[in-house]
Amino acid sequence: MRRMVWGSTRSKWVTLCVILLLRFAAGQIQDGLLINGDFETQPSGGFSNEKLGDGSAAIPNWKSNGTVELIESGQKQGGMILIVPQGSHAVRLGNDAEISQEVRLEKGALYAVTFSAARTCAQLESLNVSAPPSGASQSIDLQTVYSVQGWDSYAWAFEAEDDGGRMVFRNPGMEDDPTCGPVIDDVAVKKLFTPEKPKDNAVLNGDFEEGAWMFRNESLGVLLPTNLDDETSALPGWIVESNRAVRYIDSYHFAVPQGKRAIELLSGKEGIISQMVQTTPNKPYRMSFSLGHAGDSCKQPLAVMAFAGDQAQNIHYTPNANSTFQTADVNFTAKAERTRVAFYSVYYNTRSDDMSSLCGPVVDDVRVALSGASRSVLGRVGWLLVSGFVLFCLVLV
Ligand SMILES: *[C@@H]1O[C@H](CO)[C@@H](O)[C@H](O)[C@H]1NC(C)=O
Ligand SMILES: *[C@@H]1O[C@H](CO)[C@@H](O)[C@H](O)[C@H]1NC(C)=O
Ligand SMILES: *[C@@H]1O[C@H](CO)[C@@H](O)[C@H](O)[C@H]1NC(C)=O
Ligand SMILES: *[C@@H]1O[C@H](CO)[C@@H](O)[C@H](O)[C@H]1NC(C)=O
Ligand SMILES: *[C@@H]1O[C@H](CO)[C@@H](O)[C@H](O)[C@H]1NC(C)=O
Repeated sequence: MRRMVWGSTRSKWVTLCVILLLRFAAGQIQDGLLINGDFETQPSGGFSNEKLGDGSAAIPNWKSNGTVELIESGQKQGGMILIVPQGSHAVRLGNDAEISQEVRLEKGALYAVTFSAARTCAQLESLNVSAPPSGASQSIDLQTVYSVQGWDSYAWAFEAEDDGGRMVFRNPGMEDDPTCGPVIDDVAVKKLFTPEKPKDNAVLNGDFEEGAWMFRNESLGVLLPTNLDDETSALPGWIVESNRAVRYIDSYHFAVPQGKRAIELLSGKEGIISQMVQTTPNKPYRMSFSLGHAGDSCKQPLAVMAFAGDQAQNIHYTPNANSTFQTADVNFTAKAERTRVAFYSVYYNTRSDDMSSLCGPVVDDVRVALSGASRSVLGRVGWLLVSGFVLFCLVLV
């Protein structure tokens, strides 16, 4: 008997080990930094300022094509110090150059890539991020620098079309000065899941807790650029429908009303997040949300324009020494089975300490629910009736 118990425990352990080993062997990717995603691993020939040739495998774990250069913090060029977002190394992509890394993915799953980027000398620098064989790609415009540090983190999401893929970063530019071109650092990937819709709230991911990877020790948040497809959003449920980005912030570096994450709206009307929520036509609803400041010395006043169906309300944040946020609501009557809710910042705010980093009001905990209690009481009575009926049937059987 004892033997059998031990035997079964042992077989459980064996099974567990086999599963873990298989997973390991399959190279199932872990959420977080890609292998040498921070470009800090020393190449076999040592770090050097020499440009890497075509098809070179000189950057450990990455493939490159075109002029790809490992740069070092403090490195100067034409009197200008190159920006290395984190650590002491990053890569720079010359005209039409690209780097890529193969990653294991799960077919059909949604992934978000997070990376840091800075521009060097050209004004119109941009990056083309893609993940073949998935046909999706996004061009990230690096013209607007959102933070005074000179670099930002961005996220982009895609659906895996196969069990593997490549993360590709390409500089589509053709500058006269071939040494111009974007700098990339800290590449991470995260498998996203779509949160379940809560019963009492029509908004998906209204607390913004599910979204792109954020490094625990990077303090600038992550910019979410334009993305009109809610099926492949780095912020599940939401779209960024403006041509400028909004900032995804964490509670380790910013004031967040609830949970660990929230959205900071930037650039006035040029930074809009929205979601289509399910509603019942002609019913009264109430949208409530938290409105606050991010604790980043953003110059007041802070205000949002909040939209719910045909209602739009301009709501000012009232500074309160005891709290970093307040709650606000918008009442509306649904006109259709899907209702748009959206937010943008009323003002163009910058930080009062550096006068140039973009900042703005924080939105969190967005809820849309039928207003008034009558419906839920009726619902409860209905539920009781149904349970009673089921019990009755069981007794009969
Ligand atoms: C490098 O890129 C060029 C054009 O962008 C392409 O023709 C060539 O096949 C690529 N080389 C490798 C090794 O991928
Ligand atoms: C990015 O590059 C891919 C492959 O070269 C191309 O098909 C795609 O159109 C580019 N995307 C954008 C948004 O420029
Ligand atoms: C952030 O953490 C990673 C490992 O988690 C480390 O390699 C890196 O040096 C850290 N960066 C900073 C700026 O502390
Ligand atoms: C902050 O809290 C203190 C003590 O609870 C209270 O006396 C004060 O009025 C509050 N201040 C504001 C602005 O609400
Ligand atoms: C919305 O309706 C609720 C009652 O259902 C009321 O308490 C609240 O003040 C209303 N909000 C606004 C902004 O009118």
